[in-house]
Amino acid sequence: MAKILVIDDDKSIRESLELYLEEEGYDVYTAPNGTEGLNRFVAITPDVVILDIRLPDIDGFTVLEDLREEDEKVKVVMITAHHDMETTIKAMKGGAFDYIHKPIDVDELDIAIGKALGSIEMEKKISGLLMEHPRDFKVGDIIGTGKKMKEVFKTIGVVSQSKTTVLIQGESGTGKELIAKCIHYNTSRDEPYIAVNCSAIVETLLESELFGHEKGSFTGAIARKQGKFELARYGTVFLDEISEMSVNLQAKLLRVLQEMEFERVGGKDRVKVNARIIAATNKDLKKMVQEGRFRDDLFYRLNIVSIQIPPLRERREDLAPLVEYLLKKANRELHKKIAGVSDEIMNIFLRYNWPGNIRELENLLIRAAVVAKGQVLGKEDFPDLVEEKHGASTDREIAGSEPGKMLTLDEVEEMHIRKVISNTDKNKGEICEILGISRPTFERKLEKYGISFTKE
Ligand SMILES: Nc1ncnc2c1ncn2[C@@H]1O[C@H](COP(=O)(O)OP(=O)(O)OP(=O)(O)O)[C@@H](O)[C@H]1O
Ligand SMILES: [Mg+2]
Repeated sequence: MAKILVIDDDKSIRESLELYLEEEGYDVYTAPNGTEGLNRFVAITPDVVILDIRLPDIDGFTVLEDLREEDEKVKVVMITAHHDMETTIKAMKGGAFDYIHKPIDVDELDIAIGKALGSIEMEKKISGLLMEHPRDFKVGDIIGTGKKMKEVFKTIGVVSQSKTTVLIQGESGTGKELIAKCIHYNTSRDEPYIAVNCSAIVETLLESELFGHEKGSFTGAIARKQGKFELARYGTVFLDEISEMSVNLQAKLLRVLQEMEFERVGGKDRVKVNARIIAATNKDLKKMVQEGRFRDDLFYRLNIVSIQIPPLRERREDLAPLVEYLLKKANRELHKKIAGVSDEIMNIFLRYNWPGNIRELENLLIRAAVVAKGQVLGKEDFPDLVEEKHGASTDREIAGSEPGKMLTLDEVEEMHIRKVISNTDKNKGEICEILGISRPTFERKLEKYGISFTKE
């Protein structure tokens, strides 16, 4: 309920406004003079203040000034006695949101309050990019300074006006989920955001996860269960790793997208989908369509709006701000006071190719921050990156730890494999993907170089 504070020395005006506004559904507070008005303002933080210009103790303009000092964005509707331009201009210049004349016309008042509240909503939406979400999510935390990221932000802005389906593509660790949340919180922040990883669960389970099931529809279905599409209500369903969805489920999802309705597993009732669907993948979905591994009709349904997040190596201008931002985050979590990285490290960062993108950078910085003794992270704090015997050749050359030594191709290969393993948090399949080799080849190479790695 919106809170309104009425500051007016005329008792009959206070009372009638209170009566009227309460009937309109507002929470109304009153004060007979400026001093009390200011006190009440601080105590109750109203959304809108209705302020008389002529007050017994402090002049209304001064009260306005004081109110704005308390809260720069305060919405003050001034009550002016005269229709003279001068007072009005003075009020508006002083930062009043609007003004109405005495005798008060309730329609005029309604419009002024409505506009003020609408403007608060707008401000919330706009600063949504900077506001802290109750679940510890700050959308303003997306770093991106270059042209490509600006394009991404623009698209987020556009899609936040509607509920179109969005497909987010980008290498692993580029921030796909972050962008999905950003879209969600800019569109329907009070509704649920529900993420489903399409690769993590077996097909039948995924189906009932998504669509829910009726009691007794399969062994173990002891009660009716709502699926994610239902639970998300008017919010967002985030389908992560959509490329991993089985062909069978792809067909079912397609139907849901076409009809925006579905049935629970084992059920007959049609359930409506009101949520927005955002899908994400680190695969080249178009290529998968060409190869017949992903349904083309589903691809087109998902790809209504597409967001391609560039890999970190294609936006090196973001490295410095990302390091700053991620270190601040690490400092908060680890209770540290790391000020930054050395120039030497920054230079290595700028030349490194970041296969694990921002997640890789984040992990690296966190690990360094944990062990760091000083305030500036230097070479000694990044053993994986610069000093480890099996660090990637490029890093070693760049870091100059063994200047002049030429490496054999096998050594380069071994180091690169070790690097990818230690710098990303991936399983075998994903690492094969990054390295662009088949699983058997990968196994052979692990054996050849005596690397033990078992993460399936
Ligand atoms: N532009 C950015 N600014 C700040 N932090 C970012 C940015 N992009 C990603 N991150 C951070 O990097 C980490 C990885 O991001 P996220 O999980 O969204 O990536 P992803 O693309 O979904 O990765 P994956 O494909 O591995 O699932 C998160 O901690 C996220 O907060
Ligand atoms: Mg992700």
